Formats: sequence, C-alpha cells, structure tokens
Amino acid sequence: MTHTLTLPRSVEWKETFISLLDQQLLPNTVEYIKLHTLQDVWDAIVTLKVRGAPAIGITAAFGLALSLQNYDVQTIEEFKKKLQADKEFLASSRPTAVNLFWALERVVNSINNAISINEAKTLVIHEAIQIQAEDEATCYRIGDYALSLFNKHDRVMTICNAGSIATAYYGTALAPFHISKERDIPLKVFACETRPVLQGARLTAWELQKSGVDVTLITDSMAAHTIKTKGINAIIVGADRIAANGDTANKIGTYGLALLAKAFNIPFYVAAPKSTFDLSIASGAEIPIEERSAKEITHIGDVQVAPDNISVYNPAFDVTPSEFITAIITEHGIIHSPSVDTIKLVLN
Ligand code: MRU
Repeated sequence: MTHTLTLPRSVEWKETFISLLDQQLLPNTVEYIKLHTLQDVWDAIVTLKVRGAPAIGITAAFGLALSLQNYDVQTIEEFKKKLQADKEFLASSRPTAVNLFWALERVVNSINNAISINEAKTLVIHEAIQIQAEDEATCYRIGDYALSLFNKHDRVMTICNAGSIATAYYGTALAPFHISKERDIPLKVFACETRPVLQGARLTAWELQKSGVDVTLITDSMAAHTIKTKGINAIIVGADRIAANGDTANKIGTYGLALLAKAFNIPFYVAAPKSTFDLSIASGAEIPIEERSAKEITHIGDVQVAPDNISVYNPAFDVTPSEFITAIITEHGIIHSPSVDTIKLVLN
C-alpha cells in the first residue's frame, strides 16, 4: 500500500556526516545537527540528543560507518581491531537498551569474511543502512499488528516516546496511532509526561499532534485517575530490553502503569522489534538499569526545583515482570501471555 504519512525522522546518513534531529531541543526548536566524529556520536547518545532503543542502535551503526573513514591502517587485521575498539567505545554510552549492542555487533560481524579494507568499508556502511531500512519495515508491521488489538474510538495510554523519532520511522508503541490516521480509524491517546526528562510531553505529544492524532497530555501522577475517569481501554509502551521470559525494561514509570492495568483489568501491551529481545538473559533481574544524573530530578530545564545537596535516586528504566504483560507485539506476530515458550514460538 502507499503510505501517506510524513513523520519526523531522527537520523539520516549523509556519507561524510550523520544528520541528527536534536531531541533535547524539541518541541520548541526543530533542528538537525551534524555529527562528524565517533565522539560526537557517543555524546549525542549520552546526552539524549538521540534516544529510544532502535534509534540509538541505528545512530551507533552509522557512527562506526563514519569513524572508519579516518582509519589510518594498512591491513584488514588492523582495520578489524580499530572497528572493534570503536564498537566498545560506543557500547559504553548507555547500558540498558540492547538494540545498541545488537546493532554494533551486527555491523562488526558484517566484515568477518572481508579480505580487503575497501571491501570492509563498503560492508560496514551497507550494514548500517540496512539496519535502518529493516527497522522501518519492522515498525510498520508492529504498528499493523498493534492496531488489530484496538477498536474504533478506543482510549489508549502510553508513556515515554516509542515513536518515529525513537526508531527508523513509524515507531513501535506509537506506530498504531500513526497508521490509524492513514486508515481513518479514530483513537484517542493519553500521553504521560514522563518525568524526569519529559519524553512524553516534549516528544510524544509533539509527534502525535504533528500527525493529527487525538492526543491528551497528563502528568505521570494522573495515570490512575485518568484510567478511571476517562475510561482507558488499554496501555501500550515500547521496550529497551526484553529477557527470555518476557520481563521487560522500559522507561521509568512503565512498571507502575502495568500494575494499574492489572488493577483496572485492562490489557497492557509492549510493542518491540525482535532486536529488543535479549534471549541470553533468563529474566529481567539481569537487565542493567541506567542511573542518570541527579540534575535531571533537581532541575526542570535550567530551573532548580529541589534544595541544594538533596540526595537523589534517578533510575532511567524499570522492569515489568512478564506476568503483568498481556502481549508483546513484534514484527513476527503477537506474543500473547509472554513466557519462554510463547516467545520462542513467535520469534523462531
Ligand atoms: O531514555 P530513553 O528516552 O532512551 O528511553 C526510551 C524508552 O524507554 C522507549 O520506550 C524505548 O526505548 C522504546 S523506543 C521505540
């Protein structure tokens, strides 16, 4: 089918640089910055100029493609060593989203059989472009499956931003809403603002409003009251890492929403590509949870909202046990009641 949507893109490969939508400036300023070096890419990931699991992976893959243009090496062995070192550097940027490590690994493995430096350079660039192209197709399929779970006029809650700008295009948890516009299916979205860094308010509200989706912004503390008073039918979120048993790490606040879904007896959906699954870990207990700077809590923008020297705890993600997840929506199909067995069945 022909797609009529024009959604914002977070990252584009421009041969000598990476063009990146600076998500820290949204929604007030829409600006694409140029990344020229590996350090630029690392900084952009750490400072959340690019964020969202698939988008981080794609940007890191392009980071390797960028860096190799300055390699001063004579042999393919030296080339492979340099690429490995660059991979390890980028892998140190953020610990939770497994798509980062998956994409870096995929790019490095693409040159396993390369016999010349030129061949290796071409393969790396090709693999990075391929990862982005595949993610776009993947997200559309996820959106299509997710939309099949909703009825016309449903009211759906989400948190953080699992949208077009968090992926190659369309998004994961937001893909059904974008596609619903294309198909003229009315849905109403309630977006949690997502403290501390407000991905819901700054990014999801902006992205959905731009594509004409009916979106209402609430603060995170309004979730229970909103589910009750506005008759929310379902909750859908993205994911940063899903363990073999279905336990899912996603933006802090997700676990609370899953508990609310159980209490209100409404479905709780996770939308994520296969690249977000980490089948090497048995459960969510093994997922490293990033802790970010205290300033994200003590300040809103540049305004200090807490006393000096206050002790702060700032985990960026939480883990929702699989028993609270009604289904995980992937590009391979919908995994109902996620468990080791149901996940294997759909992903294999
Ligand atoms: O800290 P962030 O903004 O990178 O966290 C992002 C999320 O938690 C998203 O929900 C997740 O990466 C899925 S993006 C399709």
